[in-house]
Amino acid sequence: MKRVVIAGASGAIGAALAQAILDQYPDSQVVGLCRDPATAPAALQGMDRVTLLPWDASDTGAMTSVAEALATVMPQREGIDTLVYAAGLLHSDTVFPEKRLEDLSAEALSQAFAVNATGFALLVQALIPWLRHREFKRIAAVSAKVGSITDNRLGGWYAYRSSKAALNMLVRTLAVELPRRCKPVACLALHPGTTESALSEPFRQSLAQLTVHSPEQTAGHLLAVLREVGREDNGRFLSWDGSELPW
Ligand SMILES: NC(=O)c1ccc[n+]([C@@H]2O[C@H](COP(=O)([O-])OP(=O)(O)OC[C@H]3O[C@@H](n4cnc5c(N)ncnc54)[C@H](OP(=O)(O)O)[C@@H]3O)[C@@H](O)[C@H]2O)c1
Repeated sequence: MKRVVIAGASGAIGAALAQAILDQYPDSQVVGLCRDPATAPAALQGMDRVTLLPWDASDTGAMTSVAEALATVMPQREGIDTLVYAAGLLHSDTVFPEKRLEDLSAEALSQAFAVNATGFALLVQALIPWLRHREFKRIAAVSAKVGSITDNRLGGWYAYRSSKAALNMLVRTLAVELPRRCKPVACLALHPGTTESALSEPFRQSLAQLTVHSPEQTAGHLLAVLREVGREDNGRFLSWDGSELPW
């Protein structure tokens, strides 16, 4: 991994993954996207192999500015070999996972879809010029097992579940088109495993019976999976331990 873009580099998983890539690949250069680079972890802000660019997944115009800024850091002809979409929204000041139908709101659904699904597809669209080179490239969307339609037995969390299912479908659809346009390529969805972060924090008590990983552990798991990914993995939904998940 040499030329890497991580969307959501300010988050627990995105930041730990950026750090792990920088540590394990001394020649790597990382471009991190986040809403406010000034609030990204200090370790990333201070590194000369890292460029942080402002980007808001719910602002469709942001994709053009990201592409323009990226061109000054990573020339299109060199391209990128790894794109990880680690942005995600489960709760915010105005959004909280629904327990029942009556909790549903159009606003929450719209926000969840913007960050968890639309932002990914529009970012890939904007970065196509960086994906046309002939070396292998991996495009990984950090999804969630609760986005699995087959696995949904508990219900609830309508906005998060359905937006992650939409993300998964975007991955599968891109996995059909991208090999025609950008081969060799693998586009896949990754479940990171339950991880300590701002996103999982409100559910700490109910997660007590699960194994909860630190962001550094999760980054190590995801990097181990990404390292082994080849073009034959295009269109797969993989868990943090490399096992296959049902769509
Ligand atoms: N933690 C878990 O247990 C768990 C389990 C399964 C899946 N996941 C998935 O893993 C990914 C990373 O989550 P995390 O645990 O690292 O959570 P986190 O620490 O809360 O990070 C969330 C990231 O999403 C970004 N984000 C939120 N809204 C955004 C917007 N409108 N535009 C751009 N970026 C936005 C945040 O950026 P700001 O700094 O700008 O807020 C932050 O970088 C998510 O996709 C999540 O669904 C996590």
